[in-house]
Formats: sequence, structure tokens, C-alpha cells
Amino acid sequence: MLTAVSLSLILGSLTAVLSAAEELRFASYYGNHMVLQKAPAKAVVWGYGHTGAKIVLSLSGSHNDYKTATRVVSGIWHTTLSPVEAGGPYTLIVLQTTTNTSIMLTDVLFGDIWLCGGQSNMAFTVGQINNATEELAMVSKFSDVRIFQAALEQSNVELYDLPGVEVPWSRPTAELLGGKPFTHFSAVCWLFGRYLYQTLNYPIGLVDSCWGGTPVEAWSASRPLHKCGLNSTMTSKLNRQLPVQSNFWKDMPFAASWKNSVLWNAMIHPLLNMTIKGAIWYQGEANAGYNRDEYNCSFPAMIDDWRRAFHQGSGGQTAIDFPFGFVQLSTWEKNYLQDGFREIRWHQTADYGFAPNKRMHNTFMAVAVDLPDEKSPWGSIHPRFKRDVAYRLVLGARAVAYGEKGVSFQGPFPAEIQFDQSSINIMFDQEISAAYSDNAFEICCSANNTCTDDSQWISVPMKKLGSNYILLSLSQCPSKPTALRYLWRDWPCAFNACPIYSSDKVLPTPPFLERLD
Ligand SMILES: *[C@@H]1O[C@H](CO)[C@@H](O)[C@H](O)[C@H]1NC(C)=O
Ligand SMILES: *[C@@H]1O[C@H](CO)[C@@H](O)[C@H](O)[C@H]1NC(C)=O
Ligand SMILES: *[C@@H]1O[C@H](CO)[C@@H](O)[C@H](O)[C@H]1NC(C)=O
Ligand SMILES: *[C@@H]1O[C@H](CO)[C@@H](O)[C@H](O)[C@H]1NC(C)=O
Ligand SMILES: *[C@@H]1O[C@H](CO)[C@@H](O)[C@H](O)[C@H]1NC(C)=O
Repeated sequence: MLTAVSLSLILGSLTAVLSAAEELRFASYYGNHMVLQKAPAKAVVWGYGHTGAKIVLSLSGSHNDYKTATRVVSGIWHTTLSPVEAGGPYTLIVLQTTTNTSIMLTDVLFGDIWLCGGQSNMAFTVGQINNATEELAMVSKFSDVRIFQAALEQSNVELYDLPGVEVPWSRPTAELLGGKPFTHFSAVCWLFGRYLYQTLNYPIGLVDSCWGGTPVEAWSASRPLHKCGLNSTMTSKLNRQLPVQSNFWKDMPFAASWKNSVLWNAMIHPLLNMTIKGAIWYQGEANAGYNRDEYNCSFPAMIDDWRRAFHQGSGGQTAIDFPFGFVQLSTWEKNYLQDGFREIRWHQTADYGFAPNKRMHNTFMAVAVDLPDEKSPWGSIHPRFKRDVAYRLVLGARAVAYGEKGVSFQGPFPAEIQFDQSSINIMFDQEISAAYSDNAFEICCSANNTCTDDSQWISVPMKKLGSNYILLSLSQCPSKPTALRYLWRDWPCAFNACPIYSSDKVLPTPPFLERLD
């Protein structure tokens, strides 16, 4: 049922589209210096014009000259280009023959488009990372990595074009990358793009659409929220489920209340017609105290829904299972226990502990639990070590999104767990590099099979480290333990110093929780 308010909103946005339709122009997110998705996919280009007018689009550049025609229907023209190989620059001209007017995009490259989403750790700029000056000084070497950023906007209805643009398509500059904190440009997005560029050697387009302090529900359409039993009219009051003494939100820029779907409506839905290669995501902090127990449903469901929607919106050009990378939560507030991060870390993997997994196909995860930053000037919830995060994400992208053989991107994970009276033997799926720890592993040996309270978990010391196994001492447990967990703490390790890594010491074993049946 339409209320008077939502009806007037719909009419309002319709009027905006129609009155603007007189003028020949591109949709908000096309611009000079942009990157369009390369072959084998086809890029989609659309805009506004006189209803009924004929539109001729021509693309000219070093290798291709190409023309296609279409008509303006209800104030909108829409074309799907032929596939174009990576490279450029190209000039794209759109001519409206009836009025003999034309518009043009110059310095257009073809490459891979990655969408970057999430909250403040994605918004965290290149200017805020450790050694930012070094990074900003080399920006000009990467002029084929192009950036675009959507403005912060909310809407109660799904919009078809962005209401605002924060950074129009640009070649990177130190000013754009190192702007005001939490404005532009995202460090994780940029570093991901530039590392990827260094392995692929063709243009990368980065589309940043993120907002600090936001829960996953704001970025999700109502469909996936309903699937997870999250009422589509609910409003998040982010701090209501947190203990009173918590000052959890003091470090969160722009913390506020969020209605479901408002950012999906204004900052993601408008982008659906763009052909993209994949997406990366850094979010979850805002769900540590809000619908936390549902995150194992809401996050995978959002990924599924974005994939379906981008596939449909691009007329099938964006892959139905496009690769989706994400950062597992790092740490926050060393001395405040139970901030909910350990549950969110687990739920980010749909409770598998690793990605991709059976529930989350074609995903990859950068573990960040070992990258704490107690002294971050932006609050410890915002670690400055985004290079490590982006580096791990890029390993995942190379292996999962680009199918590069022999790239390891996952830390060691238990393949088999064996018992005898005095020990647990954890066999890993790869060689490990491990250091002794007395409290990284904990067991539940309560007889009734549940350890609901943290005090029921017992730390078990590591007593032997093998090249691909670890023996834990079981002496404190009178019966067979019912569960084993690793790094199940909000802040389990010092920087780059968790107990277990891959043999090359690059990739940490992520936190896990195994039922032992
Ligand atoms: C269309 O415009 C161009 C330049 O704007 C002009 O050179 C050309 O003669 C015009 N053609 C027609 C048919 O009016
Ligand atoms: C960053 O700065 C630290 C010292 O503050 C230095 O040890 C390190 O080599 C620098 N470079 C990078 C890329 O981290
Ligand atoms: C996006 O594409 C779909 C399918 O081609 C179309 O129905 C829809 O109107 C497009 N949206 C815009 C804003 O052009
Ligand atoms: C869910 O939405 C309905 C309809 O708007 C509302 O009446 C109901 O109170 C909501 N329930 C919860 C738990 O928020
Ligand atoms: C998600 O986590 C909650 C709380 O830990 C659990 O009760 C539920 O069974 C899990 N759901 C799924 C789909 O894994």
C-alpha cells in the first residue's frame, strides 16, 4: 500500500527524471577519464535525451572505431557497446540527430571495474594510512588506475541515477587520495586497485560507494532482509544493544540511525546498469551491536542479491556470480572485552571460518585480526595498516577472480582434528609457521555440550608444533571436549604476531570454532 508520503517521493523522483530529460546528457557516473568494463563483457552507456530522438554513439581510439544507434525512450537512451579489449584512451561521442547536439567523453579507458563498499574502514583515506606520504608521492605512476566516488546520500525509494557525486572520474592525484579524513579516497579501494594494476598491467576503474558507521541492512534491498527475518521497516539505533558503559560509538565517524535499504536505494541501486568485474567490502563493525546474530544470514544474502541485481541491471553483462572480496574485522579497544567483533568475524564467513565456502561461492577474504593498531589517531577501530589488508585482498582476487594458478590466499585451516587421552592433534591443510601460545586455543569440556559463558572455556597450551600440525595439551579436561576455538577474542594478538601463519608467514590462520562430535 502506498502512503501519501512514499507516493509523493516516487512522483518527485519521476518528475526530476522527466524534466531533466530534455537535455542531452550522460547519467551521473559517466565522465572524462572513466574506465568502462573491458571484453569479454560489454560496457553499458546510458543517459537522457529528447523522447523519440535518434542517438548515435561513436567510439574512437587507437584500435577501435565503432558506431551504434538507438532511440530515446521516455527520456532515456541506453546502449550496450561491443566488447572492447583493455586499453585506451578512447573518445566516446553521443549525437542526438534530431537536434544535432552532441556530448562527449574523452580519455576513456577499458579495463576492470571494481566496486568498493562498506563503512568507515573502507572510507578511511590514503592520507590516513601509515606512511601515507610515501604512498601519495607515487600516485602519478598509476594514472591508469582511475577513481570515482558516489556522494553520501540516502533515499526511501530505489533511485535510477546517483543523486550526487563526491569525486567524478579522475586520474589519481595526491589531493584526491589524501583529502580530509574519511572523505576521499578510500585507502583499501585505492591500494587494491593499484596492486591489481601491478599484476594485470591494464586499466582499473575504482567505484567507491561507502559510508562510515553504517549497518549491512542499510546497504541491502528489502528482499535479502526479509529472507533473514529482518523487518524491512526497522530502523537501527546502533547503540541500543550495547552495554551502557560502552563508549563503542565514540570512535565511529558519522554514527547515526539508519533505516533499512536507504543506502542501497541511493548509492548502489543507481549503479546497477554499470558493468562491473567485482566488488570488495569492508564493513561489519556497525553490526557488532545490531542484528549481530543474523549477520551470518544478512551478509551472504546481500552478496547474493547484489549479484542478481547487477547481472540483471547490466542486461547480463556483469557476471551473475561476480567475485566478491571482503575484509574480516580487525580489532577494536584492547581492554574492552566482548565488543561483538569475534561473532561478526565468524558470521562474515557464514560460520565456516574461511572463504570461499559452500554458502559463499566466488568470495575471498582478507584476514585482519592480526593487524591491530592501538595507537591509531583515528581510534583503534580504524587500524592504519591498510596495505596489508589490500595486499591480502589482492591475493584473493588473483586466485578467485582471475583464476591465477599457484597463488595462495588463505591461511592454514584445520583439515582434521584427532584426540587421544592427553592431547588434541590439529592437522592443517598446508604447511604452517607457528609460535607457542598458552591461550590462543580454548576448549569447551562442559558435560552438557554447551559453553554459553566465556568462563566455561578453558585455555589449552600448545605442546608441540609440527610442520603441518599442532598438538594441544588436554590435561585440564576430564572428558572429551565438545568444542575447540582459536583466536576467539576481540583482540587476540599483537601486530603481525598471531600464533599460526602460512609457511611464508604471510597469511594468518583465521579465528575458528569447531564442534567436536
Ligand atoms: C550540426 O552541428 C555541427 C556543429 O555543431 C555543424 O557543423 C553541422 O553543420 C550541423 N549539421 C546540421 C545538419 O545542422
Ligand atoms: C613505514 O614507516 C616505518 C617506520 O615508521 C618503516 O619502518 C617502514 O619501512 C615504512 N614503509 C612501509 C612501506 O611501511
Ligand atoms: C537499467 O537497465 C535495465 C535493463 O536494461 C532497464 O530496465 C533500466 O531502466 C535501466 N536503468 C536505467 C537507469 O537506465
Ligand atoms: C515490522 O513492520 C511492521 C509493518 O510496518 C510493523 O507493524 C511491526 O511493528 C514491525 N515489527 C518489528 C519487530 O519491528
Ligand atoms: C547464525 O548465527 C546464529 C547465532 O550464532 C545461530 O543461532 C544461527 O543458527 C546461525 N544461522 C545460520 C544460517 O548459520
